[in-house]
Formats: sequence, C-alpha cells, structure tokens
Amino acid sequence: MEADRPVTVHVDPAFEVAPVRRRTFGSFVEHMGRCVYTGIYDPDHPTADQHGLRGDVRDLVREQGVTVVRYPGGNFVSGYQWEDGVGPKDQRPTRLDPAWHSIETNAFGLDEFVTWAESAGVEPMLAVNLGTRGPREAMDLLEYANHPGGTRLSDLRRAHGRQQPYGIRMWCLGNEMDGPWQIGHQTADEYGRRAAETARAMRMIDPGLELVACGSSGPDMPTFASWEAKVLEHTYDQVDFVSAHLYHEEHDGDLASFLASSVGMDRFIDDIVATCDYVRAKTRSTKRMSVSFDEWNVWYMRDFLATGVPTEWVQAPPLSEDDYTVADAVVVGSSLISLLRHSDRVTVACQAQLVNTIGAIRAERGGPAWRQTIFYPFAYTARYARGTVLRVHADAPVLDTPRYGEVPALDVVATHDADADALAIFAVNRSQQEHLALDVDLRAFPGYQLVERCELHDEDVRAANTSARPDRVRPRVVSGAVVDQGRLALRLPPVSWTMLRFAPIR
Ligand code: AHR
Repeated sequence: MEADRPVTVHVDPAFEVAPVRRRTFGSFVEHMGRCVYTGIYDPDHPTADQHGLRGDVRDLVREQGVTVVRYPGGNFVSGYQWEDGVGPKDQRPTRLDPAWHSIETNAFGLDEFVTWAESAGVEPMLAVNLGTRGPREAMDLLEYANHPGGTRLSDLRRAHGRQQPYGIRMWCLGNEMDGPWQIGHQTADEYGRRAAETARAMRMIDPGLELVACGSSGPDMPTFASWEAKVLEHTYDQVDFVSAHLYHEEHDGDLASFLASSVGMDRFIDDIVATCDYVRAKTRSTKRMSVSFDEWNVWYMRDFLATGVPTEWVQAPPLSEDDYTVADAVVVGSSLISLLRHSDRVTVACQAQLVNTIGAIRAERGGPAWRQTIFYPFAYTARYARGTVLRVHADAPVLDTPRYGEVPALDVVATHDADADALAIFAVNRSQQEHLALDVDLRAFPGYQLVERCELHDEDVRAANTSARPDRVRPRVVSGAVVDQGRLALRLPPVSWTMLRFAPIR
C-alpha cells in the first residue's frame, strides 16, 4: 500500500477571484438524439404535462441546479429554420436534419422550449443560425421572441398564445463556425464579418442583448487562437462573449491524463483570455471580453465517430448515450473547479448536454429518469458554491501525465458567502494510487466548523449507474473530521471528488 501524501491547503477570504456566477451552472439542449424527443419532451410519458413536457426530467433538472440552458444547437442550428418549429403542430413541416442525419418533426420548437424553461426555472439562451442564414433571419427570430407586439412576427407569437415577449438576453451568433463539419462552415474573416453585422442588426432591435461570438471548437483545432483573434477583430465592439467548447475523453487507456483534463481546460481558458486581451490592446478598447464556455463535458466522441450517425433517416435515434463512470464524475467535478477558478473571465458555462445525449440525466423512453454519476458533482457545486470564489493555495505533490506533463495531484477551489457565513471547498484527488492527507488551514476563518463532508469515490473507478442500478454510484457523507484550532485533517481517497462545507459555531 502506498503511503499517504501530505498536502497543506491554505484558505483565506483575502484570496478573492470573482463572484460566483450563477450562469456557471448552465446546460445545453440540442435537437440531437433523444435530448429533446423522449428526453425533455414526450407527450406519451406518464409524467408529461399538458404541453408534453416530462415532469420527472424537469424535477431532476431542478435538483441538478441548472441555471441557464442553451438551445437549439449545436451543429443542428446551422441548418435549422426556426419558423418550422412554431405555430399549430399539425401544420409544422417534417424536415431532414443533416447535422445528425435525423428526421425532425418540429413538434418541439421555440415556444415549447420557453415553456419548458419557465417551468424548469432556467434562463433560456438561444443560438441563431449563421451557417445557412444571416442577419435577416436572426432579426426575425428576435422580433418573434422579444418584441412586445404590433409587428408581423411579434403578433404571430401572440397568435400562437404567447402574449408576453420572452425577453431572452443571451444569444449565440452561430455555432462552431470554425469546424469543417459545420453546415455553412466559414473562414474567420467570413464569419467575423457575418457575426459583426448580425450583432449590429440585433442590437438595433434590442440594445440590451448579451451576444456570444463563436470561438474555436476546441484547443486542438488547427486555427485555434488565430480564429479568436480574427473573429474578435471584426466583432470586439459588438459582442460580450467569445465561446469555448471542450469535451474530455480518455485516450487509449491513459487514465492519468484523463483525470488531469481540467489542466487542459485551465490552459485553454488562459489562452483564450490572452487572445481576447491581445485584441483589446490592438483595438484600443477598454472593454473586457468574457468567455461563454457553452459546451463542455466528458464525451466518448471516439465511440461516436466510430459508430457514426445512423445511415437511415430516423426520428430521435439514441446518439451518444454515454454511461458515465466514477472517473468521469471526478473529471466533471474538476472541470467545475476550473470554471469556478476562472470566474473572473468565464461568466457563462453550459454542460453539454442535459439529458440522454452526453447527458447528466438519463431518461428511458416511456420509463424512469435517473441520475448519471456526473450529475452529482454538478448538483452539489451548483447548490453550495455561493458568494465569492477563493483561490486556494496548496503545496500538492505532482503526478506525471503523458498529455499534460506534471500536474498537481490535488485540484481545489473554495467559495465564501460572507452574508450567509458559509464556506465551501471543492477538491479532487487525481492520483490513482495515493490518498492525499490534507491539512486544511482555516485560521483565516475563526470559529468555522465542518458542517458536511461529502465524497464521491468507489474502489471501481469504472462503476456507473444503470437502468437496473440507478443508485450504484452516489456521493456519501463522511463523518468524523473536526476543525481543531483552525486546522482540519482529512484523507482524500484516490480518484475522488469531495465537497466540504463549513459555518461558524454559534
Ligand atoms: O454537443 C454535441 C455537439 O458537439 C454540438 O452539436 C456541437 O456544437 C459540438 O461539436
């Protein structure tokens, strides 16, 4: 047995990063696979409401603590005509969705999405099609969604039963336009111009919008960074965010690198921020660009690419319904730590996706819905990360990884809600062999005591929840540790995610 590795961890309210952004806990609903159809929408399901929206899935979305949801894609949006998805359902056209080689019935569209978002208590975030369409169609969609009435499209919405405008603030200007797989793929100059003109037109209608320009589809894209620089040179004054997308995956059994995925995420964010600031300097702007990390998760993309999309045209085929393991949950937990640590610049993030397709929630067709392993670190972080993000100083041992070189074995961040007197620490032990023996220095929080210690760990790092055993993996409360003279000693098991909550003793 390996000896424990000692680590001293210093937490101090002075180590402020930025406020915790509620939009960090976003998710993503795309017309892909069974995310929409039989995921959030299934009129035949026993829990469906009068709109056909699944009640069991909605309850889990609330429990997960999701705050904002991006819709309707993803690659899907680049061939989508939003008008197909509104109005009487029996008059909506059935179309081909080339992005996922699927049949799109359009039974679910914008109005259903907003109804769902309202009932789930989440903020809607819309993407416009800049693949096959341009400023005109984006303006039309905005008029339909946000204008109160008295115009053709706002009156159309009212005729569809929605009197009040939707007031949607966040809009994505296309999706992954750097990707050769994208319908209407463009060069950075082509996209930059189109995005700038679309943004300008949309702002003429509604100056209060928050607009997202497409960044790179990932750090491995050959155009990464030069894409951001060019696109932002065109759009800097017109947009508020540049997007980032990143999916983690274990390559060729390299679990050590996979567990260190958030190191790649940290570097990606730092590089995007550096590029944004380069453009700020170049354009002599005073504005600070934010990052909308609007697609991130673990995704077994290799399996997906090996299987490919269906060759037949079918409606809502099961696509990328990954069964998430303990190791995946630990990677998701550390991804959230990375996002929190960058809360000064990453102010929106969306886990992709919400249900079934690379989803934290699995919803059986006509059957129950349950929580995947990755649901838990998200739900706990969303619930307890409050107030201000605190950088944590830790002298962690390092691990060697083929992909990222030397990485700290411990990933950790804290949040402090001064008003509620609540401190939370989120930590991941990336080591596969060693316990980390933590000595948490809390002297800067006099009188604080441990309220809850919650741990996700399993001897079998490949254990997953299944339909037959939906509760096989779940976090457990660990008791026993106490803060003594401002210090807390505890052991973090290998490949584990932990949340610690503290409050002053009254
Ligand atoms: O989330 C699945 C897909 O991944 C999205 O449609 C696309 O934007 C990304 O490549």
